[in-house]
Amino acid sequence: MSSKIVSGIRPTGNLHLGNYFGALRNFLKLQEENDCYFFIADYHGLTTHPTPENLQENVKQVLAEFVACGLDPDKATLYVQSDVPEAIELYLFFNMNAYLGELQRVTTFKEKARKQPNNVNAGLLTYPTLMAADILIHRASKVPVGKDQEQNLEMTRTFAKRFNHMYQTEYFPEPVAYNFGDELVKVPGLDGSGKMGKSEGFGNAIFLIDDEATIKKKIMKAKTDSGPTEKNSEMPDYIQNLFSLMDIVSETDTITQYKDAFADCSIRYGDMKKQLAADMNEFIAPFRDKIKSIVSNDELLSKIAKQGRDKARESAQRTIKEVRDIIGFKSI
Ligand code: TYM
Repeated sequence: MSSKIVSGIRPTGNLHLGNYFGALRNFLKLQEENDCYFFIADYHGLTTHPTPENLQENVKQVLAEFVACGLDPDKATLYVQSDVPEAIELYLFFNMNAYLGELQRVTTFKEKARKQPNNVNAGLLTYPTLMAADILIHRASKVPVGKDQEQNLEMTRTFAKRFNHMYQTEYFPEPVAYNFGDELVKVPGLDGSGKMGKSEGFGNAIFLIDDEATIKKKIMKAKTDSGPTEKNSEMPDYIQNLFSLMDIVSETDTITQYKDAFADCSIRYGDMKKQLAADMNEFIAPFRDKIKSIVSNDELLSKIAKQGRDKARESAQRTIKEVRDIIGFKSI
């Protein structure tokens, strides 16, 4: 059965492997049979980057990356968040019924507030209500995201349920974070800290645009140690992270070979990293080439953005009209 699916990505940097496996990859299959919306969350970007340089260039780059990953503008609706202002009206309605205490308890809010103590802005606090608006403006039921977004999805369900309860309706679905029906993904970074992310500093993330030398440099720098000294010993997290990346890009036989070598203490991390860098480059190369071939095609990208905007606005306008009716706004 066809479902409504929504997800978004902030244009605060190039797309990396985490974005691909957490969110984008899911859409490749889903777009074949569902009503899919995938957008560039440029409003959300302002919560951490209030004065973005080259905003339009960044948005264009991410749109090119969507298409390079295989998102098809004729199947899925690809659009820019700020092109669909209807969602902002829904954001306002949700904010009226969102409470300070619950917003302050959100982990990502607490993390960001710690990271940018001089800019704990209201947009950061209400990040989850804008996200709920992004999703519910299309009344989506599934949201392909990585594990880091789980709590935001829980908040979206809270706001949907609350709206339904307050206005005595069953209008909004309660959307779930989705990954082919399995567990949500967390792709580790290369700095040993756990998550691949664009703001964690150079070297932590492998971007879909990275060239061969950059990939190799980043991987060779990843944290390791002098190797296990006891057979079948427990793997440190930073080594486990390298194996998780291998799981994504390497052949099963290769992974088994290095796992066995770890177990019997014969592993040489230098060799393992060279292998990982070669497999990673093979995985990234087609994306890199495709991105390069599309990103300077302004005509194509603006055609795609316009096509997406028109489709997304049509869906959003329908929802806003119905929400206004439900709340009781009528022209006098
Ligand atoms: P953002 O821009 O941080 O990341 C975009 C998507 O990539 C996923 N992701 C990861 N998945 C697995 N492992 C990783 N290391 C990793 N890093 C990032 C994220 O889970 C996300 O799916 N709040 C969102 C953007 C957003 C949104 C929405 C998403 C705004 N409105 C509505 C879904 C629905 C964000 O900051 O994603």
